[in-house]
Amino acid sequence: MVDVLLGLQWGDEGKGKIVDYLAGNYDIIARFQGGPNAGHTLYVNGNKVVLRTIPSGVFHVHCLNLIGNGVVIDPVSLMGEIEQLVTLIPDVKDRLFISHRAHLILPTHRALDAASEAAKGVDKIGSTLKGIGPAYMDKTGRNGLRTGDILSRDFRSKYEKLAQKHRQMLNQYAQIVNWEEWEQPFFEACEYLASLKIVNSEYWLDAHLNNGKRVLAEGAQGSMLDIDYGTYPFVTSSNTTAAGVCSGLGIPPSRIGEVYGITKAYCTRVGSGPFPTELDDEFGEELRKVGNEFGAVTGRSRRCGWIDLVALRYAVMLSGVTRLIITKADVLDNFNPVKAAISYIADGEETKELPFDLCDKVIKPVYETFAGWGKPISTCTTYEETPQVFKDYCHFVEQYLGTKIVFISNGTGRDQLLTIS
Ligand code: GDP
Ligand code: IMO
Ligand code: MG
Repeated sequence: MVDVLLGLQWGDEGKGKIVDYLAGNYDIIARFQGGPNAGHTLYVNGNKVVLRTIPSGVFHVHCLNLIGNGVVIDPVSLMGEIEQLVTLIPDVKDRLFISHRAHLILPTHRALDAASEAAKGVDKIGSTLKGIGPAYMDKTGRNGLRTGDILSRDFRSKYEKLAQKHRQMLNQYAQIVNWEEWEQPFFEACEYLASLKIVNSEYWLDAHLNNGKRVLAEGAQGSMLDIDYGTYPFVTSSNTTAAGVCSGLGIPPSRIGEVYGITKAYCTRVGSGPFPTELDDEFGEELRKVGNEFGAVTGRSRRCGWIDLVALRYAVMLSGVTRLIITKADVLDNFNPVKAAISYIADGEETKELPFDLCDKVIKPVYETFAGWGKPISTCTTYEETPQVFKDYCHFVEQYLGTKIVFISNGTGRDQLLTIS
């Protein structure tokens, strides 16, 4: 079976840490969407590592790691990531597999991303500028280049055809770029990529599953950034919900097992777009400071606010979450009270549904208020040790979302995790 782990908010829920922990129970960790816009932080033996495209199972010697067809790959970024890991994990390349069908991010995609954002002015998405949107546009526009194309003799001419089209588009944005400086590292990285294990990943996965191997699909971004269900247009360009797993790995729905959904005990967002429970005050500032809420990829400060159960219930519904994980519970140790949004007042009407046009509405969240934990969660080593007020909060969240919490994360370390049986 293929279990799934995905973010239920706007990304950065702590997916990397939890996948690294869970990887002990799996044979294969497979990324199914997104690309180097992701930044998944792991602390292993005191080393902080931020993974972008490589799945978060790499630190487990028994784990194979697959970059699935739904991912978009920037060869330069991936090569840099692998080379950085080689000192810590000498056999990283041997355990890394890449789908033939994963689309490539070209240097021109990054330039187009920057030009498009600049042209949007105040309406910009706040993209990570990694070329994600333009690469997925070429995929759905049926123009893209795939990882398997690197192995073809015609690769250069295929590249030139697409890059030429991009250059013409960029001329409209009056972008002048010294292309040689961008292209040389790209082609060097493509050669490097060609030396890696590029596989027919849907057959590869099928064979492993038939042999009883356990697979964990690792999501990137979060449900509220999903291209279909997120706060459009302030979203990323892939399906970050469970729907993306089948198309992004080539596995049938019947093979999906447990779906782990992960949320912080509060909420953050990087970039622009609606955020109903945002705290634009000293509490928001405190969350950012205590939670160290700065982007793992861009270093941008993350917007912070209370947990939003309306948005979370939507995300749980969309992905059929069977197991809930709450991270960063320790960050709220000194907050009193703690709040959770349970409905919205949208255009004067109370609703528990996420409006499709959230961007155009003035939303006032209605909150449930909880007493502060009273005792630091960060020092607890079992769930039983946590104070009753915290257990009440967890129970309330479970009831509201209709899903069982299985882990509470209370620190950055791999083992700082409380299990709820
Ligand atoms: P991801 O993109 O979902 O993998 O999350 P990021 O790595 O971008 O951001 C999560 C941040 O929170 C990282 O800096 C983690 O080290 C940190 N983190 C994860 N879980 C916890 C936790 O339970 N408590 C605290 N204090 N930090 C955590
Ligand atoms: P992980 O996997 C948080 C946000 C960007 C921007 C929007 C579109 O680490 O949780 P894009 O680069 O995809 O064009 O950006 O999505 N975004 C993320 N926010 N975590 C991420 O990944 C994100 N990946 C993209 O900030 O608002
Ligand atoms: Mg992140």
